[in-house]
Amino acid sequence: MKSINIGMIGLGNVGSGVWRVLEKKKEEFKTFPWNILEIKKIGVRDIKKERQVKVPQELLTQDVDSIINSPDIDVIIEVAGGKEEGFKIISKAINAGKHVVTANKDVIASYGLELFQMARSKGVKIYFEASVGAGIPIIRVLREDLVANSIQEIRAILNGTSNYILTRMSEVGEDFETALAMAQRLGYAEPNPANDVKGIDSAYKITILSSIAFNAFVKPEDIYTEGIDIISIRDIQYAHELGYEIKSLAIARKHPDGLELRVHPTMIPRTSMLAAVRGVYNGIYLVGDAVGPMMLYGRGAGSLPTASAVVSDLCDLVRSLMDGSSGQFEVPNLVKLPIRPIEKLETRYYIRLNVPDRAGVLAGIAKVFGDLGISIASVVQKEVPDTRGQAELVIITHTAQEGPFRQAMAQMERLDVVNKVESTLRIEGVVEE
Ligand SMILES: NC(=O)c1ccc[n+]([C@@H]2O[C@H](COP(=O)([O-])OP(=O)(O)OC[C@H]3O[C@@H](n4cnc5c(N)ncnc54)[C@H](OP(=O)(O)O)[C@@H]3O)[C@@H](O)[C@H]2O)c1
Repeated sequence: MKSINIGMIGLGNVGSGVWRVLEKKKEEFKTFPWNILEIKKIGVRDIKKERQVKVPQELLTQDVDSIINSPDIDVIIEVAGGKEEGFKIISKAINAGKHVVTANKDVIASYGLELFQMARSKGVKIYFEASVGAGIPIIRVLREDLVANSIQEIRAILNGTSNYILTRMSEVGEDFETALAMAQRLGYAEPNPANDVKGIDSAYKITILSSIAFNAFVKPEDIYTEGIDIISIRDIQYAHELGYEIKSLAIARKHPDGLELRVHPTMIPRTSMLAAVRGVYNGIYLVGDAVGPMMLYGRGAGSLPTASAVVSDLCDLVRSLMDGSSGQFEVPNLVKLPIRPIEKLETRYYIRLNVPDRAGVLAGIAKVFGDLGISIASVVQKEVPDTRGQAELVIITHTAQEGPFRQAMAQMERLDVVNKVESTLRIEGVVEE
């Protein structure tokens, strides 16, 4: 039995988890009818740094190229991170004839097609299960288990950090800044949280999922993206009163005229399954034409959950090397499909307005909506505490198109019966069950 020699680049959160899992499974894996997996070298930035795991010092090196170019290494695990740095490591590994397992969503979303073509020409394989949903095996499910289906839609909570912040706001009543500070204290959010709270991380992940689900060439720039930093505690309170929860959803749908792709805070019914995804957990709801609706749920980040996916990719690679068959992510001939502009979106909307507390306000607002063909489903009016003569108006529309809706909001800003458009949110009204 030949051993499969691994060079791992990165020994941070994920790398340490991979080391732990492989150590724990060492004896069990020896009983499997496949080649033995062995980490031969680990590339790091700082060889002197204290590590989360005890690794023989002679395994560590700062010379990443020496690992990639070593004839003894069969596969490179890239868990170093960084879009450009990660791309460099992966492309060098492919060019050196190594198979690659990566957890790097930034690289796969941005350079996936290029890398898969490179890998195909070099006769090597790239695995990236850990790049979306960490331990949740969504990529394998889409590629293999649901191969009999045409996927119609995906609605997902893909960023644990924003979901944790929204959960704190919803359940503890903290404002955005306080909930973010708590997430940072617990290590759920980076010191610079932009990628998470601005929706960029989820946009990378839905780029990868929609490419696979729809067999389409999708780029991160195709995803309409808004962050959760616009959400105020008032909106959460109103959402609850109206029977909704606010979640950062990544949504991908296939229409006859193209793909609908978006990431933004969304009001969803409190009774829906996605509303029950709390804290740092991820949830992926999808609909296949044969299987119908289904949902995957689990830890979308963390050392061991991510390592679970990396090691499962390694095992797939070993199996496919043994029998030349399943497990590998072959580059399909991705089709370039039109991307629907956000203005064509049809959905229901929540609007919170600050208005003068006097007669004629509702009539003025209703006229703007009426002229643009937008129909109002419900209106709630409340006094604004500690102000004189101001009221808060919360309006829910029936299904409307985003283009006319945006025109309505622009006109609303100019009305003398509106002090301020405080916030607007899209509503996904369909209850999954
Ligand atoms: N953390 C998660 O929960 C999670 C979940 C899913 C996917 N991912 C992805 O997994 C990857 C790694 O994340 P992480 O959280 O493990 O990051 P991390 O804790 O910051 O660890 C990064 C590791 O890579 C090493 N490294 C970075 N750049 C390097 C370079 N140019 N050359 C050599 N070594 C380098 C660092 O070395 P030093 O230790 O010497 O600094 C460190 O050991 C990222 O792509 C991330 O998006 C992470």
